[in-house]
Amino acid sequence: MKLIIDTDPGIDDAMAIAYAAAAPEFDLVGLTTVFGNTHVEQSSRNARYLAHRLGLDVPVASGAGVARGADGHMPSRHVHGDEGFGDLTEIPEIGQNHDLPAAEFLVEMARRHGKDLTVCAVGPLTNIADAMRLDPDFARNIGQLVIMGGAVFCPGNINAHAEANIFHDPVAADEVFSTAAPTVLVGLDVTLKTLYRADDFESLAKNAPETGGFLRDISRFYLNFYREVAGLDGCGLHDSTAVIACSHRSMFGLHETGLRVVQDGEARGATRPDPSRPPVLVCTDVNGDQVVDLFTQRVATLP
Ligand code: BDR
Ligand code: CA
Repeated sequence: MKLIIDTDPGIDDAMAIAYAAAAPEFDLVGLTTVFGNTHVEQSSRNARYLAHRLGLDVPVASGAGVARGADGHMPSRHVHGDEGFGDLTEIPEIGQNHDLPAAEFLVEMARRHGKDLTVCAVGPLTNIADAMRLDPDFARNIGQLVIMGGAVFCPGNINAHAEANIFHDPVAADEVFSTAAPTVLVGLDVTLKTLYRADDFESLAKNAPETGGFLRDISRFYLNFYREVAGLDGCGLHDSTAVIACSHRSMFGLHETGLRVVQDGEARGATRPDPSRPPVLVCTDVNGDQVVDLFTQRVATLP
């Protein structure tokens, strides 16, 4: 299947892109970038750097720098580090962004590939909402939209109710959930059941010294955050779990419901069931060991 990852790299984003590079079922046709874990200039630079490291010849189309209606963005430096890759501070600028902005690139690819195209969005949903505004057929044209975001039946990670990607642009997220796009939501309901531990990174680094070693090095910061803030002995494979859900749906338990996003107040960014909205397949359960093993197996095939 043709795949575009809309991303804000980001440590777990880097893992997801490495996974997609290793998984034979995907033909990665582009990366589109968005603000979130970092400013968009950093996420675009990081995406180009990753593509280069992974030997991927894919365009990187840079997108939204702020949420709908916002005039600035505060990156998640405490989670992903100053430059998005943990303790790594010197990240070279490799190549250039694609001529088209992310939303136009998404629309163009949806027209070209139609139902063969899967869009996996693992950052705030601003680019996706922009593509839907740009072309009202975008939502209907694509094969599936798989989103890492939300916390439907569990607590959030940015406040008690909201998950970070949705919280960063609740307006865009609500717009996306009001369309007829064939959508799968891979939120904290499942991604905190796919913990990747320091030992997992070590064995990955042994088997795939270049890629696994890089992911292990950038993840030290991320693992510390999870240990100190969430008291967890490992980090969620958030974005990789969404990429895995694009192709390995049987690893997940699913519940169909419409969704709306709370816009204000203490639950701002919460994803709430709303039967009056178009149906979304919400992942409510996962075989976490299978996801972790598949991730390791596939990434271990890389250099
Ligand atoms: C999501 O937020 C970001 O920090 C991660 O990259 C992931 O996409 C998890 O809530
Ligand atoms: Ca992300």
